[in-house]
Amino acid sequence: MNKTLIILSLLAATSYTQAGEVEVLHWWTSGGEAKSAAVLKSKVEEQGHSWKDFAVAGGGGESAMTVLKTRAVSGNPPSAAQIKGHDIQEWGNLGFLTSLDDVAKAEKWENNLPGVVTKVMKHEGRFVAVPVNVHRVNWLWANPEVLKAAGVSVPKTMDEFFASAEKIKAAGYIPLAHGGQPWQDATVFEAVALDVLGSADYNKAFVDLDMDVLQGSKMVEVFEKFQKIRDYIDSNSPGRDWNAATSMVINGDAAMQIMGDWAKGEFAAAGKMPGKDYICAPSPGTDGQFTFNIDSFAFFKLKNAENEKAQKALAKTILTKDFQEVFNLNKGSIPVRLDMDMTKFDSCALDSMATFKSSADSGDLVPSMAHGLSTTSYVQGAIYDVVTDFFNDPSAKADEAVKKLAKAVKAAI
Ligand code: GAL
Repeated sequence: MNKTLIILSLLAATSYTQAGEVEVLHWWTSGGEAKSAAVLKSKVEEQGHSWKDFAVAGGGGESAMTVLKTRAVSGNPPSAAQIKGHDIQEWGNLGFLTSLDDVAKAEKWENNLPGVVTKVMKHEGRFVAVPVNVHRVNWLWANPEVLKAAGVSVPKTMDEFFASAEKIKAAGYIPLAHGGQPWQDATVFEAVALDVLGSADYNKAFVDLDMDVLQGSKMVEVFEKFQKIRDYIDSNSPGRDWNAATSMVINGDAAMQIMGDWAKGEFAAAGKMPGKDYICAPSPGTDGQFTFNIDSFAFFKLKNAENEKAQKALAKTILTKDFQEVFNLNKGSIPVRLDMDMTKFDSCALDSMATFKSSADSGDLVPSMAHGLSTTSYVQGAIYDVVTDFFNDPSAKADEAVKKLAKAVKAAI
């Protein structure tokens, strides 16, 4: 063998021993989401590892979590799975997760992430999950042409919302694009709750699970306003996916959607420009408030050393500046690192970043209940049931709903 051949075969052997496979479970299957997931895939593959996609469709991730449980229980978990908030602790308590402290130390994660985020990513003091982004949930997306045709402007309060919705309906458009799925119902419900309760009582209700607030008079008002929204969605909404609802705003069939900023990923994937083709505004009555939803991947204990290396490479990649920029530009979220250059980001993202920071100081930064950041999946599920049953029953009574809510939450604690 000549010298070059020896070097080549040595190189091949090295890259062979370093190459592993990462199997990654996620629910990013809409246009904007799939583009974002593809960024992560290519960054991992660039490093010589292979990516086994484990995508389970279904916004909000309920189906993905069910599939994950089956796989983990049968002793065959993926390398990493999209797991958020309190669920990370649950998986950690069951002994499934691996420590990423070596990567965290080498990459100085502690220095670059907000404390509120690192707390969620650790189990018993060790990093077991990596945050990907920060999504703001309390957004209103609007089609300016439709608003113009109806002679209304972007509603700043719930009263304005109802007045505008009435006019939009009269002009022959669907006022609010909505997908009738429990997590989407809960997303709209929590936006109304944030406005009516205010940040402090929102936290009391959905973080502290305070029974007085859960069944108080303000919560009755939340359900009343939430119920009124039904008058402004179309009859085809049951079962509709969230991205199909976003398309209705993009196409001008509907005027508005209340949804987290993953919706922006759909506008971006359709080549639409903020401020021109669509408007992003705080959901009515929640200016200055920020409901956060942090996507993260939790990492499972593996048996294969090569796959472990690939797994660590994935963990490291997620928090690199390069990945944070491209991924979040596609996803509609903002980077989770505090030291990012934001010049490539649009006005919605800059707004989100500014409000993320200011709301942390003013006490208006609150975790999303609908997206699993404020409480356990058990309590979240109990709230979903009450909210969805209520929304789907035209004769439901708000004062009875709050009693059901308190009872369901109590049973799930
Ligand atoms: C959320 C998730 C977002 C977005 C959305 C719709 O729970 O955090 O990243 O993908 O579901 O699928």
